[in-house]
This record gives sequence, C-alpha cells and structure tokens, in this order.
Amino acid sequence: MWRRFLTKKCMSTSRAVGWWDHVGPAPKDPITSVTEAFLADTSPHKINLGVGAYRDDEGKPVVLQCVRNAEAEIAGTDFLESVSTAVSSNLVEESVKLVYGKNTDVVREGRFAGVQALSGTGACRLFAEFQRRLYPESAMYLPDPTWSNHHNIWRDAQVSQNTFRYYRPESRGLHFSALMDDVKNAPDRSFFLFHPCAHNPTGVDPTEEQWKEISYKCKEKNHFPFFDMAYQGFASGDLDKDAKAIRIFLEDGHLVGCAQSFAKNMGLYGHRVGCLGVLCADSKQAIAVKSQLQQIVRAMYSSPPVHGILLVSTILNDQDLKALWQEEVKVMADRIIRMRATLRQSLEKLDSPLNWEHITNQVGMFCFSGLSPEQVDELAKEYHVYMTHDGRISMAGVTTSNVNYLAKAIHEITKSSREA
Ligand code: LMR
Repeated sequence: MWRRFLTKKCMSTSRAVGWWDHVGPAPKDPITSVTEAFLADTSPHKINLGVGAYRDDEGKPVVLQCVRNAEAEIAGTDFLESVSTAVSSNLVEESVKLVYGKNTDVVREGRFAGVQALSGTGACRLFAEFQRRLYPESAMYLPDPTWSNHHNIWRDAQVSQNTFRYYRPESRGLHFSALMDDVKNAPDRSFFLFHPCAHNPTGVDPTEEQWKEISYKCKEKNHFPFFDMAYQGFASGDLDKDAKAIRIFLEDGHLVGCAQSFAKNMGLYGHRVGCLGVLCADSKQAIAVKSQLQQIVRAMYSSPPVHGILLVSTILNDQDLKALWQEEVKVMADRIIRMRATLRQSLEKLDSPLNWEHITNQVGMFCFSGLSPEQVDELAKEYHVYMTHDGRISMAGVTTSNVNYLAKAIHEITKSSREA
C-alpha cells in the first residue's frame, strides 16, 4: 500500500531520470549546414553553392531522361522485398565495368568481391569497417584536404587517420612533390584514399603521368589504394576518361578498393545507390572478402532499398539507355565547364587584381576558390551567396542568370586583396 502510494507519487510529481542530460548538440555538418543557412535566407538574390549535387541552368535539380525511361520500364515490378541475387550481382558487375573498363577480366576470373552500398558514403563506411576488422592497427591516409565526411566515416569506424599533402594553396593546384614524399614516407602497406577524378573539395586532379608515378610508388611501398569514385563523368564529361587513374593502378597489378556512387552522375542522391568493390588475389580470397562485407551489411542495415538499384541496373543493362545516360552526363559536365569559363571571364572583365585561372584549371563539380572563411562569411551576409567555409564553390549552383551577380560579389569582397 505504502509502496503503491510512493510509486504513484513519484510518477505524478517527479520527472523520469534524465537519460540524455549529458548530451549536447553535435557540431553542424560543414556541407549540409550551408543548405540550412541558404533556405533560411529570404533574399531573392540568394545563391546556393554549397552541396555538390547537380543543378540545371535554372538552378533546379534534374531527373535525367534515362532515369525517367528506366522508371517507366520498371513500373509495376514487384519490388517490395529485396531484389534477387541475380539483379544485385548484375548491378555490381555493371558498376565495376564502368571503372575497370577492359580490365573487367578480373571479374570473370572471380577475383572481385563486390557488394551494393548506400551510395558513396555507405561504400566508404563499409570499407572503413572492413579495414578496422581486418587491419585494426592500420590508419587510413586521407588527402589534405578531402571531403569532410571522409573524416567522419573513418572516425566512426574507429580507424585512425593520417593525412597526406595534396594541395598547394599558392598555386591552387596539386602539390605533387609533397604528395609523393608522403606516399614514400608512410609505413609500408599503408591504406591510401584517392579521389580518382574531380577531387572534392579542390577540383585538382593529378595528370595521367602523375598518376603513373603515384601508382608506381604505391606499388613499391605495397600500399593499398582505395578510390572514392563519387563524380565519374563530371571531370571530363567522359566516363572512361574519368576512370583513367584506377585503370593505371589496375594495369600496374594493384589490388584496389573502390567506392562508387550514382548520386551525382545519375542524379540519384536520394536513392542511395552505390557499390563497394575490393579486388583480390584469387577467387578464394574474393569469396571470403565478399562474405565478410555481406556480414557487415547484414548487421548495419540488412539490405539496401531496391527502387534505385532497379533504376540503375535497368540503365546499365540497356545499350540505348546507357548511351542516353552517357550523353546526359556530358551535358551536365559541359554546363559546369561553361560556367567555369564564364565566371572567370566575368571576374577578369571586372579588372579583378587577382588571378582566377584556377577556376578553369580545376575540374569537376567544385572550384576551390581560395576565398578565406571571413570572405565566405561576408559573401553570405552582404550578398546572400552561400558556400562551405573552406571557400569551396559547388559550380553546379552557378547559372547563366546568377554568374554575373556572383562575379560582382566575389570582386567586391576581394578587390582590395593581393595575391599571396
Ligand atoms: C558534397 O561534397 O557536397 C557532396 O558529396 C554531398 C555530400 O553528401 O556531402
């Protein structure tokens, strides 16, 4: 009776023990928070140069025609349960062909362990988890700078991180000698993450000759090259050209890992379609590696959503749809290349005292402008132009109608600066 009274009293007057009192807000994500700030701005002039997702010349997200056609083809398909193993292995195989090109023999030889992944982030996360389980003492070497989420992914997988030098701020280009020194000086058998094309955030890619040297040095050091292929097609408009770096490594006999994403080049960001592939020495290893990856997937999210997978595999298995997709990738890449040229010209026409050659020298979705965090803040406050704090411009947000406004805004905040 007394106990019942006490319990009742407790329930009615006191709050439940505070489980989460010690939890503070997590730091804002440097990329997604740009969109939040942009959405909160009511100015008609506002421009979002934050997230790296394609927009057309009206600033609108695009559903590719190949995706529309594939959607019509799969309409009515029974996809309430997971897709069959055949569809899933086919997706992995077709994805791999996109990066491996004629080196796809390794798939036929059964040396390839591949699984579908939740876009590029999911593929990287799976690999990070796999790395921690199999090589718990090894760090991942990330380029400095790299996509901010790489740091989160390897941190959450509890893999230690090192960086290798990549970018030279003075030239706004590649710091090749420093990169080579860091590859050389890392302990033998280290894991290195490379962006095979359209480096995020710098837009700076090594040349073919430089990739050959990087591959040679990695081979000498027995490093494991892991490629995050998030923007295939966006550097040159050609899927094969953009896979050149990986193909150089394959020709040199490396066992490579690769994260692939269809978020950008098929405009399927919301569908989370991607693939993780690990090349092994023989089929016995590949079977074992694949089973380990499948075990990680099973515990993490069991299986990926199927609608996006059906879209991608429909496109990759139909010659006409695939050709249409390649044309559409080129249209997207060409628009970005045009916007780079126009932005640079507009700044030069304004007699900017600064050199803007890097806008057209850099490639892919991003331009690493060289603007300081203070200048980025000023652009947002005074001109309603939003980009990440490191000065990365997502060129997809630049359009024929906002490029002159953008150039003027950049000019206004930089005109009293001098080249370093
Ligand atoms: C980016 O870097 O903006 C894109 O990769 C989108 C993202 O998820 O961060």
